Amino acid sequence: MAGIEPRPGIMDIALYVGGKSSVDGLSNVIKLSSNENPFGPSPAAQDAVRRAVHDIHRYPSTDHAELRAAIADVHNLDADRIICGVGSDEVLQFLAQAYAGPGDEVIHTEHGFAMYAILARAVGATPVEVPERERVVCVDSILAACNERTRLVFIANPNNPTGTMISFAEIERLAENLPPQAILVLDGAYAEYVEGYDGGARLVEARQNVVMTRTFSKLYGLGGMRVGWGYGPQHMIDVLNRIRQPFNLSNVALKAAEAAIRDTMYVEKSREENTRWRAWLAEALAEHGVPSDASTANFVLARFGSPDEAAACDSFLQSQGILVRRVTGYKLPAALRITVGDEASCRRVAHCIGLFKAGAR
Ligand SMILES: Cc1ncc(COP(=O)(O)O)c(C=O)c1O
Repeated sequence: MAGIEPRPGIMDIALYVGGKSSVDGLSNVIKLSSNENPFGPSPAAQDAVRRAVHDIHRYPSTDHAELRAAIADVHNLDADRIICGVGSDEVLQFLAQAYAGPGDEVIHTEHGFAMYAILARAVGATPVEVPERERVVCVDSILAACNERTRLVFIANPNNPTGTMISFAEIERLAENLPPQAILVLDGAYAEYVEGYDGGARLVEARQNVVMTRTFSKLYGLGGMRVGWGYGPQHMIDVLNRIRQPFNLSNVALKAAEAAIRDTMYVEKSREENTRWRAWLAEALAEHGVPSDASTANFVLARFGSPDEAAACDSFLQSQGILVRRVTGYKLPAALRITVGDEASCRRVAHCIGLFKAGAR
């Protein structure tokens, strides 16, 4: 409207497009488009939600002390250095709001998570995209792009949508060589899927310029609850808490997350099933002539011969009631990202891709 204008840069933001959740005319679709846990939330989290319903007339805790204590317990961290958000997206947003603005640069990688550029633009900063090497984050490219305007470097490890990850030594090298005013944000949305990986907590403990984000949306099966958290040096957590709304997380969400993180058996089982069916799916796709990089997350990035073939396969899968994710917006137009579902879903999607490939030949 004439006279009423948003801040410069806001209208340059491309709307985030989530994974499809329905197909016209079909009920009972198999949804493999949003990297959700196929087994849902743990029964303990479901019970906690039912119990928490009785208290929803009360305002929730403002300091999230119980959830932070549970996270600290399970991960052996300092509870004072944990901050909880409405999904890890909100913690990423706090970081952008607190540390970047007009004239600043925010680095993300070629196939990095779409929210990084959106969050940078939302605060008036400039997103800077750096190349990856064969769909793997390249520390040298990131360091080459750093300058005195760089404020944040966002890396997902494992990365979405590629599923690849870089070693601790590489992350450490990156953190060590960043300019003094820059923060390394290690997005660990898929860290739980990697046996023995702490998401970068060790590096956070050792340094003043690294922060880690984590989520309850993936392995914990609580995407609909919207709970995430961050772990950082005390000076950063003190800053982020100043811009966090006091009641950002509901009673129900806090209780669900606390029960979920304490249900370590469920976590273990979900990780094991994922590892098993991810390997099976990757192999089955390879047998049908569809390669993928070794994934460390709960999805595989299936590569097709061309963007047209990927689009045609996506349409065929939809006609069969299977939803996967096109990743053209991630500069991977010839690929489809497929969440590792339960056994039946993995078998079905592999079978249908086999049919598609046989027909296409
Ligand atoms: C790499 C990465 N980071 C962060 C998120 C945000 O997750 P949430 O806000 O649900 O915690 C996602 C979700 O898809 C993701 O893939």
